[in-house]
Amino acid sequence: MEPYLVSQSLSVNLSGCWLEHYGVTPSQFAELASRLESARHESVVTDVALMDSGEIPDQKIPLDGRFYQLPEVLLEDYNADRQTSELGQILSDARQLKNSSEAVVILGIGGSYMGAKAILEGCCEPYYNELSDGQRGGRPRIYFEGNSLDNDALQSLLARLADSRWSVVVISKSGGTLETAVALRMFLDALQQQYSADSDEIARRVVPITGASGRLDALGKSLGCKSVFRVPDGVGGRFSVLSAVGLFPAACMGVDIVQLLKGAAAMNETFRTAPADQNPVLQYVGAAHLLEQVRAIDIRVLSVWSKSLESAGLWYDQLLAESLGKAEIGATPVTAVNTRDLHSRAQQHQEGRRNKLIVNVTTRTTRTDRLQVPEREHDDDELNQLAGRAVPELLTAALQGTNQALQSAGRPVIDIELESTDAFSLGQFFQMMMLATVVEGRLLGINPYGQPGVEAYKRNMQSLLGIVKRKD
Ligand code: PA5
Repeated sequence: MEPYLVSQSLSVNLSGCWLEHYGVTPSQFAELASRLESARHESVVTDVALMDSGEIPDQKIPLDGRFYQLPEVLLEDYNADRQTSELGQILSDARQLKNSSEAVVILGIGGSYMGAKAILEGCCEPYYNELSDGQRGGRPRIYFEGNSLDNDALQSLLARLADSRWSVVVISKSGGTLETAVALRMFLDALQQQYSADSDEIARRVVPITGASGRLDALGKSLGCKSVFRVPDGVGGRFSVLSAVGLFPAACMGVDIVQLLKGAAAMNETFRTAPADQNPVLQYVGAAHLLEQVRAIDIRVLSVWSKSLESAGLWYDQLLAESLGKAEIGATPVTAVNTRDLHSRAQQHQEGRRNKLIVNVTTRTTRTDRLQVPEREHDDDELNQLAGRAVPELLTAALQGTNQALQSAGRPVIDIELESTDAFSLGQFFQMMMLATVVEGRLLGINPYGQPGVEAYKRNMQSLLGIVKRKD
């Protein structure tokens, strides 16, 4: 395999966890190191061998660990053949969709859309949809639906799309999720009205991304969809951001999907090779796990210090909650965006119950020029003392001030620093958090894959609606 750059541009700092009465100690971390390394071995060696053999023991079912190898596999296939490889197909089909569409609606729920939303917010302009066509480089506006049952939101989007050239990317691994399937019907209906049921137009304007069988696959076939992508076997919804599920929408947005995968591959390389105390995945999991076991700290606040990382935080909320919230254990995730939420949540984080770990996620650089506080002739607001200071400088002071306050109050903090919110950094972050979730599950003795609890609401809802499953 091509050796990918070891991911030095993402760092984890645990010094905020080393607290005398309320945190944990470096020696406790050192004692955990061998268990962390065994959990790593289980996640990337034992699990891969089990999946390859096809003989998966009952207690490991479901085993959806293929996400781990995906970045390297996709990159290698692409290097071998730029046209026919999956990445080549994703890039060329996204280009075609871009040429034919002013807007693309991404239908999907949970793991089927949250990664794409995180990529849009992280890598694209904050006001992406408001830019002119030219400013977006001819790329389509992006909307997300099929992730709720919200009558008014559906109506508004359908109205917004009327009379424009638009397409649908519908993502559902099972192909049967009701929210997404119902939305597809609505949008399909609207497309058929708009294109007078011209089946060729419809076939080009609907791109299903789904499992190899199921109702969405069947619908895609009967519509004759020209582009269909697969959610690979052995990759679960919330672990699928670096498959076509996240990559096809990302390519439609003009995000460099090769860089996303290279970032993830770099994280894999570090994960495989670095010792526990220098390994971002194991550092993060080790400290979080110890705090939960030793101090009963089971609320995980991901404090992102950039608005563009809010959806990446929500993506991690889903990943952690659905993966480890089982058997009456598992940390509760919360995303906070700072400094915004310092004015809504920080009071509680600092002086509320001692059950929270704050995980700061910051970036080293900004994507645009640094804005400076302007000087004014009349200093009524007394801000001339800050004249010439850049906004990132103010943000750093807020971060350091918050960390100092948390430290004095004996509140544990982990600092994760990304280079930027570019595709490479986000790829690193996604892969780091997916690996971390699996390792944490193995430490807790919880199968991180599958979400049996969610099935109950689906069954109840279907029975309330009188839905009868057709026998195949
Ligand atoms: O992580 C998961 O597996 C879930 O959140 C799914 O992504 C979500 O339930 C949607 O499922 P599907 O893609 O089958 O429509």
